[in-house]
Amino acid sequence: MSPPRPDTDQALDPLHAEKVLSDTDTRVAVAGHPIHAMLVAFPISLTMCTLGADLFYWWTGDIFWTRVALWAIGAAFLIGLLAGLSGTVELLLVPGIRTRPPSWTHFVIAVALLSMLGANFGYRLSGYEDAVLPFGVLLSVLCAGFTGLTGWHGGKLVFDYRLGAGGSKS
Ligand code: HEM
Repeated sequence: MSPPRPDTDQALDPLHAEKVLSDTDTRVAVAGHPIHAMLVAFPISLTMCTLGADLFYWWTGDIFWTRVALWAIGAAFLIGLLAGLSGTVELLLVPGIRTRPPSWTHFVIAVALLSMLGANFGYRLSGYEDAVLPFGVLLSVLCAGFTGLTGWHGGKLVFDYRLGAGGSKS
C-alpha cells in the first residue's frame, strides 16, 4: 500500500477545497478596507484626465494642457504601480483569490495596462509638447480603453466573486 500523499489527498478533499475557496478576506488593508481598492481610483481617474487634457490641447492649442497631461499620466503610472503591488501581494497571499482563474486574468490585463501607462509617460519625457499629436493622444485612447476594461474586471472580482470582501461564492 502506498503512503498517504497529503497534497493529492487535500486537493481531492471537497471540504479542504471549500475551505480554500471561501478564504477570500483581504490581507492588505487598513481597518479591513482593501488598500488596492483605495489606490485604483487614482490611476483610473488620472488616466481619464490625461485623455481629457490631450483632447483639450488638440482643441485649443494651449500648451498648458500638455503639462497637465504629463503630470497626470506620470501620477497614473506611479500610483498604478503601487496599486499593482498591493493587488499582487493580495493575489499571492490569499488562497481563495490565488486559486480563482479570474484573479489571474485580472493580473494579466492589469500588467498590460501598467506597461501602456509607462509607455505613455515615457514617450512624453523627451518633449511633452510635441508628444501629444498624434501618438500621445492615441496612446491615451488606448490607455483609457484598457483602464475601463481593467476596472470593470476588478469590479467583477469584488461584486461577482466577493474577492477581498469575504463571504465568496465559488
Ligand atoms: C497588477 C496587478 C494587479 C493585481 C494582482 C490585482 C488584483 C486584484 C484583486 C485580488 C482584486 C480583488 C479585491 C482585493 O482583494 O483587493 C482587485 C480588485 C480591483 N482591481 Fe486590481 N489588481 C491589479 C492591478 C489593478 C490595476 C492597475 C487596476 C486599475 C487601474 C485595478 C483595478 C481594480 C478594481 C477597480 C478593483 C475592484 C475594487 C473594488 O471595487 O473594491 N487593478 N484587483
